[in-house]
Amino acid sequence: MGGERAVSKFDDVKAHLRGRRYRWLVTGAAGFIGSNLVEALLGLGQQVVGLDNFSTGHRHNLDEVRGAVGERAWSGFRLVEGDIRDAATCAQACTGIDYVLHEAALGSVSRSIEDPQRTHDTNVTGFLNMLLAARNAQVARFVYAASSSTYGDDAGLPKIESRIGRPLSPYAVTKYVNELYAEVFARCYGIETIGLRYFNVFGRRQDPQGAYAAVIPQWVAAMIGDRPVLINGDGETSRDFCFIDNVVQANLLAALATAPGAVNCVFNVALNQRTSLNQLYRMMRALLQERFPHLRGREPQYQQFRAGDVRHSQADITRARELLGYAPTHTIDAGLGEAMDWYVQHLAKAS
Ligand SMILES: NC(=O)c1ccc[n+]([C@@H]2O[C@H](COP(=O)([O-])OP(=O)(O)OC[C@H]3O[C@@H](n4cnc5c(N)ncnc54)[C@H](O)[C@@H]3O)[C@@H](O)[C@H]2O)c1
Repeated sequence: MGGERAVSKFDDVKAHLRGRRYRWLVTGAAGFIGSNLVEALLGLGQQVVGLDNFSTGHRHNLDEVRGAVGERAWSGFRLVEGDIRDAATCAQACTGIDYVLHEAALGSVSRSIEDPQRTHDTNVTGFLNMLLAARNAQVARFVYAASSSTYGDDAGLPKIESRIGRPLSPYAVTKYVNELYAEVFARCYGIETIGLRYFNVFGRRQDPQGAYAAVIPQWVAAMIGDRPVLINGDGETSRDFCFIDNVVQANLLAALATAPGAVNCVFNVALNQRTSLNQLYRMMRALLQERFPHLRGREPQYQQFRAGDVRHSQADITRARELLGYAPTHTIDAGLGEAMDWYVQHLAKAS
């Protein structure tokens, strides 16, 4: 690409936000995606309330945001420490809010298989509490984290929003129920909602710890700790890995979208690129072997396929491109390149 870069819809939205201060509520603000949304909004001079109960999120994520945006922007942030399973907390957090970005949930397919009740309480009851609170507070729009797991057993590729299969896990059920509730709330109460079906998101502040850590931080930890990388299945399982900056972009575009047909819709958020776990392993090894020479020529170990896992995943992002003006800025290589320093720094400390 040479010459002047065309002004994107996202540039327009950022320019608009720099000139106007809205009040945002980000639930799950201490988590991976939530803390990145908070950082982007504060960086644009916005006023942000964060709601989190720190069940899977961390205070150090918010400390990192504070360090990144500086004290002046940070003064626009207020934390409500509380639980979305409590309706009164949701009502309090929504008071006076223009835009809700609802990220709080219990992620992980495996966790939901082990503890479906807790996943349901947070992801369904908590979601309903938030929708009711947002409706009562008459917010301008409710943007929420949906999930590619909603495609379930539909084998078609790429995934198109209108065609889903049967859910393969309790987590997938909860995320699909979110979409149904959002649609029905739009119909019955006139609230504006937009669901963003994230595909595998990665980047800074993604939790590297715990049994339910996502594949990229788990592998970085194993690689730099000189432990075997374990791949579930034959490694030909594929995903549309999406760098966090693309997800932040989609959220801000969704909140401010004006195109007819954009509201009360769900959108895929990814790249439309399919990467197998074997390819991912080689990309990560190539990025890390300079610093960690023991990785040269190292191969992963293969184990059983995991229950509830979808075999292939790849998003069709036409709808988000056309109705939101979504134009991902980072390919998987660019995102991995950018995120790797953060992962290494944080995983080196932890190991
Ligand atoms: N990361 C991904 O690849 C991905 C993919 C699809 C969908 N999603 C969805 O995106 C959202 C954010 O995911 P993430 O990866 O940032 O996860 P995360 O675990 O880092 O963040 C979730 C945040 O929600 C908070 N939370 C959980 N239960 C809560 C409760 N009852 N009350 C208040 N706060 C609560 C946690 O403490 C945490 O800070 C979730 O809704 C998730 O289902 C994520």
